Amino acid sequence: MVSKPDISVKFCGYEIENPFLLSSAPPTCTGEMIQRAFKAGWGGAVTKTIKPDKTPVYDLKNRFGRMGIEDKQLVLFENIEEVSKRPVGTWVKEIKEIKKAFPDKLLVGSLMAEPKEDDWEDLARVISEAGVDMLELNFGCPHGMPERGMGAFCGQRPELIDSLTKAAKRGSSVPVMVKLTPNVTDIAYMAKTAEQAGADATSAINTVLGLIGVNIDTFEPMPSVDGKSTFGGMSGPGVKPIGMRCVAQIAQATNIPVSGIGGISTWKDAVEYLLIGAANVQVCTAVMWRGYRIVGDLVDGLTNYLSDKGFKSVNEIIGKTLPRLTSWSKLDKDWKVVANIDKDKCIKCGVCYIGCYDGGYQAIKFEPNTGKAAEVDEEKCDACSLCYLSCPVPGCITWKRVQQK
Ligand SMILES: Cc1cc2nc3c(=O)[nH]c(=O)nc-3n(C[C@H](O)[C@H](O)[C@H](O)COP(=O)(O)O)c2cc1C
Repeated sequence: MVSKPDISVKFCGYEIENPFLLSSAPPTCTGEMIQRAFKAGWGGAVTKTIKPDKTPVYDLKNRFGRMGIEDKQLVLFENIEEVSKRPVGTWVKEIKEIKKAFPDKLLVGSLMAEPKEDDWEDLARVISEAGVDMLELNFGCPHGMPERGMGAFCGQRPELIDSLTKAAKRGSSVPVMVKLTPNVTDIAYMAKTAEQAGADATSAINTVLGLIGVNIDTFEPMPSVDGKSTFGGMSGPGVKPIGMRCVAQIAQATNIPVSGIGGISTWKDAVEYLLIGAANVQVCTAVMWRGYRIVGDLVDGLTNYLSDKGFKSVNEIIGKTLPRLTSWSKLDKDWKVVANIDKDKCIKCGVCYIGCYDGGYQAIKFEPNTGKAAEVDEEKCDACSLCYLSCPVPGCITWKRVQQK
């Protein structure tokens, strides 16, 4: 019998049964929820962010928004939620209970405090001593908290990443991971700053600052809190390209592991993050939408993928794509191809023709109502890929190499 590939991963000295962790968010709001998630099969979880009891937080009523395709599928999710309101003492008790019930799962305590070193050091001491395996420093929340010097306010200032990471390290008895915000000019620089300050790992991304929409009947920005709103954090499938760019840049710039977050809904999304260098992945929005049970599909999908590709362990794919990510100037200018339309597959819809005519190089010949398939004029085709991307029939348009190296 052929043995199943090993999907366990190593992270900061721990071995996790699979690379799927819950990120710090509503699905990790209480010990009871985290225990249910562990029973469902998640390899680890990061608690909803814990703050000192003296720091007030507020939960606005109506704090979510969404953008979909024809109002059905989720593309982007917005939140203007703050961190956990629950007292530190409650978390300490529940952390002990979780670790007792699930000693082998990775439990990470997420922390946030005002930018005062003593506050970070004290909170790191209390939560690490409660028994978590690691800490995650939330330097990324882009709404509400930054107005009071927390979250992305810290993640956008290298000097605060440096001093607060050092403070948390002084207090902590366990490895410390720094969660970074994508709302900066150069996330690799921020990651390097965290590494130099002694961080054991980084995680990215926290949510992307945006405005999900405006109600054009009532003129209210969304999500509307009694008629007004504020800019919020975007998550879900639409932020995946931003998350992947950030994780790849961090993986290229640092020598500590990075936990990949942002828009992961399927095992394929997770594989992509692992390929570009994520040591494991964290998931939030997909679980808010579909529940803890999606971990079953994530585990099965990853296992089958590795098996189909002939890999014995998930570790063989971590970072495999990273060397192929280079600068634009290093890409091969001599690689010449043109589009090729399969006459038998073409459904004569004209989508490729319209795009090429009005947004491309007028390289597609097509006459509607003649029953003839669209055709590429190879002299005019510049291989921009617009037709290939917009064609509704898989495999109908492919690349044809016109110059062998
Ligand atoms: C409603 C909501 C609340 C969140 N709360 C926190 C939080 O308390 N601490 C934190 O570090 N990140 C928080 N996040 C960010 C997520 O952990 C994650 O970084 C982000 O949503 C991107 O992942 P996703 O696309 O899988 O949702 C929150 C996200 C959402 C949607």
